Amino acid sequence: MRRFAFVLSLALVPLMSGSLKAADADKGKIIAERWCTSCHVVSDTQRKGTDATPSFAAIADQSGFDADKLAFFLLDPHPIMPNFALSRAEAANLSAYIATFKRR
Ligand code: HEC
Repeated sequence: MRRFAFVLSLALVPLMSGSLKAADADKGKIIAERWCTSCHVVSDTQRKGTDATPSFAAIADQSGFDADKLAFFLLDPHPIMPNFALSRAEAANLSAYIATFKRR
């Protein structure tokens, strides 16, 4: 039984560290630049999205901003957003990227 628990813990370590590493802001940036720029201002260097959308900086600055909630929100396409399905990892990466705009 001990031995089983030991083997199990060995098996879980890479799984768990993998899910922690899943939120990768650099990867999120790449996704944002590909999918979100047509509407949102996603970086400091981008000049203009559409007026109807908040910039990523504005999103990160909202009170109560929470990267985990955002990742969850992104799993569902939001209104008027083209219908693309993000994987959980992509949503987490995007959310980690948007979180980098939060002013501390
Ligand atoms: C076709 C235009 C369009 C695209 C592309 C788009 N969005 Fe949006 N997004 C909107 C609009 C419009 C709103 C405002 C919706 C509302 O107010 O109900 C919005 C709102 C949001 C919000 C919520 C802001 C808040 O109120 O807290 C987030 C987060 C967001 N978008 C993230 C993204 C991300 C990440 C991508 C790229 C994967 C993306 N959007 C691509 C149009 C778009």
